[in-house]
Amino acid sequence: MADTDGLLDARTFTGGERPATGFHVKGAHAQDWGLQNRLARIFRPDNGRTVMLAFDHGYFLGPMAGLERIDTNIAPLVPQADAIMMTRGALRTSIPSHSTAGVVLRASGGPSVLRDLSDEHIAIDIEDAVRLNAAALAIQVFIGGEHESRSVANLAKLVDAGQRHGVAVLGVTAVGKDMVRDARYFRLATRISAEMGAHIVKTYYVNEGFETVTASCPVPIIVAGGKKLPEIDALTMAYRSMQEGAAGVDMGRNIFQSDHPAAMLAAVRAVVHDDAKPEEAHELFRERSAGSAAS
Ligand code: R5P
Repeated sequence: MADTDGLLDARTFTGGERPATGFHVKGAHAQDWGLQNRLARIFRPDNGRTVMLAFDHGYFLGPMAGLERIDTNIAPLVPQADAIMMTRGALRTSIPSHSTAGVVLRASGGPSVLRDLSDEHIAIDIEDAVRLNAAALAIQVFIGGEHESRSVANLAKLVDAGQRHGVAVLGVTAVGKDMVRDARYFRLATRISAEMGAHIVKTYYVNEGFETVTASCPVPIIVAGGKKLPEIDALTMAYRSMQEGAAGVDMGRNIFQSDHPAAMLAAVRAVVHDDAKPEEAHELFRERSAGSAAS
């Protein structure tokens, strides 16, 4: 029991007009404390932005280039990431449990790259996600795909489970090979995920009208890197995404398939968190990669 002798009277009841508890993640002001806390493990409280390192590709692609050994290729990069996105198998086997990056777990799966990728199911129980201290669960949404309806239903089920346990859900916009990747499509797909309850939506950058995608989505948009590009091009895409309203990147191949993954991750961080211009970030990449085989 606390010592109650000499207690001071409460006397400071003012402190500015805005509530001191305003929340920094778009669309999440009405969420419960636990869910907000988990979102804050992904999006930095000082600027609402995130650099998420994605290495979940093996769940349908197997050991692709750069992901042959997650323990040696990826784990050393994790301290530089605000959040990491991977399967529970990769997390348990290959990522140190003292890592402080927000954990975003891949929660859907089923088909391999040899089959119809939209034929996915929920592939994790919320109880295991909580056991793994997940901040969010990521699920693919195939708008216009063969199994569109089931993928939307999967998202809704995961949102129900996430709301019950205070775990956020990331809706991943999946684009089929034959689909047009334009702002109109991404407005449709991202908005559907947000309306179904996703707390974060991932999509691709488009050169024309990307700001209409971010403006019409009521939750944060993060941008996938896509196929490996020259570093300056990937940094330019990240820069434009941020300037046009994205809250961060969820980047995989453009980091782990770079000859200098750590240097590239540092350059991406400069773009996302410091508003570095692509050329400045590329200079940082060159400095950090100079003289080392793979850093
Ligand atoms: C697809 O396999 C995953 O959702 C990836 O995490 C996502 O596409 C981001 O990775 P990348 O930057 O390589 O496209």
